[in-house]
Amino acid sequence: FKQWATEQMGIKLKDNQNKSTIYESQSKPTNLQQEKDVEKKVLIQDGIDITLGNISDNEESNINKSDETKAVKKAFYVPIERNKEIQEARMELPICAEEQIIMETISNNPVVIICGETGSGKTTQIPQFLYEAGYSSKDNDNPGIIGITQPRRVAAVSMSKRVAQELSLSEQEVSYQIRYDATISPKTVIKFMTDGVLLRELANDFLLSKYSAIIIDEAHERSLNTDILIGAVSRVLKLRAELSEDDGGKIKPLKIIIMSATLRVSDFTQNKNLFDMVPPIINVSARQFPVSIHFNRRTPNIDYVSEAFKKVCKIHTRLPHGGILVFLTGQNEISILCKKLRRKFPYLTQYKSKQLLEEEKIVGDVESLTAKEADVEIGDLDIGDKEVGEELFDTDSEDSEENDEITVDERSGPLYVLPLYSLLSTHAQLRVFEAPPEGTRLCVVATNVAETSLTIPGIKYVVDCGKVKERRYDVITGVQSYVVDWTSKASADQRAGRAGRTGPGHCYRLFSSAVFNDQFQQFTIPEVYRMPIEGIVLQMKAMNIDTVYNFPFPTPPDRNHLRKAERLLQYMNALDENGGITELGRVMATFPVAPRFSKMLIIGQQHGCLPYIIAIVSALSVADPFIKDYHLDISMNSDDDVEEEDNEDFDVRYNELSEIQKEAISQKEHRKLIRKRFYDVQKKHAGLDPTSDILKLLNVVGAYVYEGGTDEFCERNFVRPKAMEEIHKLRRQITNIVQVNCPGVDVCLDSKMKPPSIVQLKAIRQIITAGFIDQIAIRKGLIDKSSKIFSSARNVEYCTMWADDNVFIHPTSILYHHKPPDFVVYQELHRTSKVWMKGITVIESSWLSKLGKSLCTFSKPVDLQVKSKKNKDTEKIAYVIPSFGPKNWELPPIKII
Ligand code: CDP
Ligand code: MG
Repeated sequence: FKQWATEQMGIKLKDNQNKSTIYESQSKPTNLQQEKDVEKKVLIQDGIDITLGNISDNEESNINKSDETKAVKKAFYVPIERNKEIQEARMELPICAEEQIIMETISNNPVVIICGETGSGKTTQIPQFLYEAGYSSKDNDNPGIIGITQPRRVAAVSMSKRVAQELSLSEQEVSYQIRYDATISPKTVIKFMTDGVLLRELANDFLLSKYSAIIIDEAHERSLNTDILIGAVSRVLKLRAELSEDDGGKIKPLKIIIMSATLRVSDFTQNKNLFDMVPPIINVSARQFPVSIHFNRRTPNIDYVSEAFKKVCKIHTRLPHGGILVFLTGQNEISILCKKLRRKFPYLTQYKSKQLLEEEKIVGDVESLTAKEADVEIGDLDIGDKEVGEELFDTDSEDSEENDEITVDERSGPLYVLPLYSLLSTHAQLRVFEAPPEGTRLCVVATNVAETSLTIPGIKYVVDCGKVKERRYDVITGVQSYVVDWTSKASADQRAGRAGRTGPGHCYRLFSSAVFNDQFQQFTIPEVYRMPIEGIVLQMKAMNIDTVYNFPFPTPPDRNHLRKAERLLQYMNALDENGGITELGRVMATFPVAPRFSKMLIIGQQHGCLPYIIAIVSALSVADPFIKDYHLDISMNSDDDVEEEDNEDFDVRYNELSEIQKEAISQKEHRKLIRKRFYDVQKKHAGLDPTSDILKLLNVVGAYVYEGGTDEFCERNFVRPKAMEEIHKLRRQITNIVQVNCPGVDVCLDSKMKPPSIVQLKAIRQIITAGFIDQIAIRKGLIDKSSKIFSSARNVEYCTMWADDNVFIHPTSILYHHKPPDFVVYQELHRTSKVWMKGITVIESSWLSKLGKSLCTFSKPVDLQVKSKKNKDTEKIAYVIPSFGPKNWELPPIKII
């Protein structure tokens, strides 16, 4: 096959492409100096005869070619009338200067890698180049659309809007598709999507036949999906090339363009398993202005949010105008900083609109201030930047208290503060691209979404906390934790680069250079080494990639990792003993949720439980809808909510907290009471004691719908409206999928859903058990045969299948305050000071013999005794329950203690 690929692909592909695109010159790009050698080697190796060298070397043939080009141009070129402003802005982008070279290289090669600094125009321009060259033209004999994948939803949406605007096309023509939303139509010619969306399409159509070109963007981030996609499309490419041969040209070869913001692409080029030819790399050098980097002199402060606040204050009060971009790690930190900054330099209250400014007669002040700032800028722009920076910004301890008390600072003028993180509503996210209101300075406080995906215009100052919040995953135990840790040197440099887009800039790093040198890793580790992959393994099996071990991952994951994922899928009967996909597995793969959840949906059809399971699965798939108490995140390095309940510990640490953090805690008690009501629904309606944390999610979805799904409900109950909307959308989406896959199944619509009956509640717990069958925990006393009796689950040890450590019920679980159950199933393990179980459901041991037979040993008579005792208890409960049924989702009143 390899020989075939080498012999056939290079030459034949080129012949085909010469007919179908306008840039058919066989001369090689002239300024790809560093690539030439690589290519030459490869080409000689493969024995393909291509002329390398300048176009002018061979003028005669060029003249002929340009005639030919014109002819092709007539047929396929899609002329575009862009408005003048957009065209001028485009011409500023470095990538536009390279259009000819880029398109020639794409034309001559099945795979091309494009590297270019963030903001050089890759994401917005390359799709347009392809579009103009006729890659999605109906007249072209290479029909199909242009697909671009993004690791983040924010980017897919905002970039499709931008490209539509630049091309003066509608949102149906340049569309996006993300998990919960899409604007695609039959008219679509360019489609932005998340990489997950394209992966799911691959399961249905391994040829990706509706695409003529696939652009895989942000490949440097090495997200798991991107890696799988690159591996998969390398196979699609071969298949399409092969079929285009056999089929007399009906199926056309595919073009793959891999884009990266860094030059570190050797995993794609050097991996012999991926592509048969070493793909050419086009390096677009962007005009990047110098950025002076200022390190903190001191050892970094743990409370980097306050540190960032001080830096922004200093920049805003003392330095010439220019936007400020602050990098923090998460939503809560961002909210705290935005709030502080808005209080200090208010824009909304005093400077609401220009009219308001005039009414208050302060326009003059703002204007003169701006003029003054402009003066300073002219004088200070290039020279002396460093000295100014160092003098102003090296933190010394004397003034560290200076800004703790926030007083309104009117002299410096208003600061237009905008947050930017992925859970923010799309509308609010797009505001960062608009020009800030007149007389204000823009300050965007962002997570690393602003690192390479989105280029915010007009940034001159970057404040970088140097940290990133990452999900870590233990391959063997399955323990997940969110860790705030130093980012990589490569990321820190990317962040700094954001300051040099429009002119010389400054980057203020809230850490010392010693820490940077000693503790920062060179690059971020690819996600394939950090994430659970059972979902991907199932998708791959459904794509008929049977031997996941041989899959051409750019960097193959740990074999144990793959084996564990395969084993879990076997426990769930999605795979047979040989690792082949079962019928159940195939159905599971059609659901756009993790395999655990798809299993729950499929078996959730008993006792009319499906609507509840759909709601539960939707809620579990979307990030936690409850607004958390974050106060400890900042000072204790995200030690979770554990200490919150642990009073002794908590008091000691409380004194170390800042005022803002204390303020956050004062609301906590109130929140807790509100939260508890979601557990109390079953108690109110059925007299049942709490049996599951997951029912809390079901109750919040039920109550939200029951009360009309308003933002007011969310505010009152401390839940995130965006999460609730996403749950709602996902419910609809999953309901549709179930209806398509399992016609005739009764799927209730929202308004008809009543709270579950007692029988249903038990079935729901069994279905949850089936989905998390490998995550059973047994009370240790049961195994040790200890007769110790506990009144609460605090400090009670549990054993799991995977972790060597004992695990504990997390204090946020409702079961923490009750008699510890013997058998539970947990949703996830979190490691902080101990290993905690979260999302816990009480189960009965007798269920396990049915739901997880392959995981059970049935030999110990002790178990039988326990079981009969347990059954008695259950009977008792069943007997006590009166026969009144639940009525509606109305929440019980808050009980003030
Ligand atoms: O993908 P890459 O980082 O190379 O650049 P890009 O995202 O294509 O952005 C090119 C330019 O378009 C940047 O200067 C952005 O600020 C600008 N842009 C914009 O003004 N508004 C948008 N909605 C998107 C991009
Ligand atoms: Mg981009």
